[in-house]
Amino acid sequence: MKRILITGASGMLGATLVHELSKYYDVFATGNTSFKEEPERYMKFDLSSPSYESLIDWANPDIIIHSGALTNGNFCNQNPSLAFDVNGVSMKKFLDKTSDNVKIIYISTDAVFPSTLSMANEKDCANPENVYGKSKELGEFFLKNSDREFTIIRTTIVGLNLNSDKQGFVEWIINSSLKKEQIGLFEDVLFTPISIWDLTNEINFLISNNQVNSEILHIGSTNSCTKYDFGIALLKELNIDDSVVNKSSILNFSDRAKRCTDQTMETKHYREKYSRKLPDLADTIKSIKENYNE
Ligand SMILES: NC(=O)c1ccc[n+]([C@@H]2O[C@H](COP(=O)([O-])OP(=O)(O)OC[C@H]3O[C@@H](n4cnc5c(N)ncnc54)[C@H](OP(=O)(O)O)[C@@H]3O)[C@@H](O)[C@H]2O)c1
Repeated sequence: MKRILITGASGMLGATLVHELSKYYDVFATGNTSFKEEPERYMKFDLSSPSYESLIDWANPDIIIHSGALTNGNFCNQNPSLAFDVNGVSMKKFLDKTSDNVKIIYISTDAVFPSTLSMANEKDCANPENVYGKSKELGEFFLKNSDREFTIIRTTIVGLNLNSDKQGFVEWIINSSLKKEQIGLFEDVLFTPISIWDLTNEINFLISNNQVNSEILHIGSTNSCTKYDFGIALLKELNIDDSVVNKSSILNFSDRAKRCTDQTMETKHYREKYSRKLPDLADTIKSIKENYNE
């Protein structure tokens, strides 16, 4: 059975990757902090640490899925050297400390692109606008310039946290609405989100079919919407009153890290090359509903 090391396992995507892929592979999970729901085979490990030997010796992986990252754009802007270390230099450390036959799947982001690009494809030039995007581009750089078999997956994800200490975008929308707290969602930011369960399914497809082919793949939903429209559609699907949700503008947050107004990515290359049907937005929202326990 393939041995897979998954980083970011206390985070939204990583925890679901561990939960789902453990059904098919020998999974070793790592995150920065302990948490109540952590899996049996879990090592607390700081990706900014200089020495990766203990982690690699413990997991002895055939494949690393590198999902761990500092994902808060404002925190990254305020702590650039830590962001570059955790999000980018960690890739170099994995490359240096593992043998050449260990494959690496790197979870990257739409944030490597500027707002001027709409439905960015794999051939478009990365040109990040903030520290977070730059730090993820650095991780891509190390991998692309290595001799390793790799897949860089650029994606935009939505989902729910298995780690009850965490609250992401979707939980924030749902919980605020249930508590009748007013929130604002951007009507001027477009994205193409895929659910963490659907993305996990695609990652499993690539691994189980030995399709880690040293390439960049854009994997997301097939159509775009604004964050406001997403929130309203989600609450409608869950039968939750959406009257506390207001339209807001990213222009009102000029004090924070620069964020793209167009985060959309084109997935045609992946769909055609691997004959995959990716979800549209309605499927993405249904997938959240299927995994939401009130
Ligand atoms: N969420 C999105 O909208 C989005 C969009 C595009 C791409 N991505 C990419 O998808 C991946 C997963 O995102 P996510 O939303 O699941 O992130 P998340 O919920 O914020 O989780 C991040 C994970 O990284 C870990 N981490 C942070 N600093 C660390 C450190 N110094 N050492 C070790 N681990 C550390 C966290 O550990 P602790 O929680 O224990 O601190 C957590 O397990 C990331 O690589 C991100 O760049 C996310």
